[in-house]
Amino acid sequence: MSPIKKIAILTSGGDAPGMNAAIRAAVRGAIFNKLEVMGSIRGYQGLIDNNLVPMDSQSVSNIIQQGGTILKSARSKQFLTPEGRQIAYDNLQKNKIDALVVIGGDGTFTGARVFSGEHNIPIVGIPGTIDNDLYGTDYTIGYDTALNTVVEAVDKIRDTASAHSRLFFIEVMGRDAGFLALSSAIASGAETVLVPEINTGYKKLDDFLRNSFKKQKSSSIVLVAEGDKLSGGAIKIAERVNKEHPDYDARVTILGHIQRGGSPSGMDRVMASRMGVSAINALLDDQKSVMIGMVNGEIVYVPFNQALKNKKPLPPKQLELIDILSI
Ligand code: F6P
Repeated sequence: MSPIKKIAILTSGGDAPGMNAAIRAAVRGAIFNKLEVMGSIRGYQGLIDNNLVPMDSQSVSNIIQQGGTILKSARSKQFLTPEGRQIAYDNLQKNKIDALVVIGGDGTFTGARVFSGEHNIPIVGIPGTIDNDLYGTDYTIGYDTALNTVVEAVDKIRDTASAHSRLFFIEVMGRDAGFLALSSAIASGAETVLVPEINTGYKKLDDFLRNSFKKQKSSSIVLVAEGDKLSGGAIKIAERVNKEHPDYDARVTILGHIQRGGSPSGMDRVMASRMGVSAINALLDDQKSVMIGMVNGEIVYVPFNQALKNKKPLPPKQLELIDILSI
């Protein structure tokens, strides 16, 4: 028998479509296993503010299809301090909470690792970020929806790019990771992609532009991850290109936070449902400080240490695909 009787759930960091589906699954998975559940409002900050609400099966009705997070999210500065974490722990004690389920990305799991180390509280993480950049899982909740959002936007931009024979630089989210940019580039037939993981150097882009012009390409789309080192962002790179290649008449679109919103895709809902219930099973299985991962379609437990220490590599074969498919 597990000693865990009562848990709290929170969402932290950048929100991602499908977080609500994960909350729903974790709450219902917990209730199915006769656990009591509370929700912390605004992530770790809710633990510090003692802003905890009881959750029952009804409290997560009709949310599987909603973007955002009903528990709200925050990047708590106070939780970065030992004093803040002590207050959070005292409030967990006051509320008789034995364990936590945290939904978010690397910042969320860094906080969880420190907190569980200091106060010996079992914590299980569910990966929720549109960046898909967590080591140890093929997939993070929100990534598929964001990918579809980007592809829909790029398709529309392609229409006008083609009508005017223009070059577009389209900036997508990903401060440190190019997964979203790379997949979107493949799926939208972009001519090339700039990602933070690889410093391609200006020469490659320059060569590509000269070649395309020679080939009289009627339009070109370059996807730029926001953290790309070469460009320093789509605006800067477009300014440089317009100076050096005036024939192109380049334009820029920054997709921004539109990528974080919207109703989650079917895929995100299924992943979130599986991961949410698995998080509860992991706690009941006496797991501590692990992230739920998905590898080859199967649920795995990844220690926070491992998920945070390693950098997930961009698949090199997919990078090659862009070069092959844009000839
Ligand atoms: O980590 C998710 C993410 O959307 C990144 O892709 C992006 O760089 C960042 O969050 C933006 O964060 P904020 O909404 O706090 O500006």
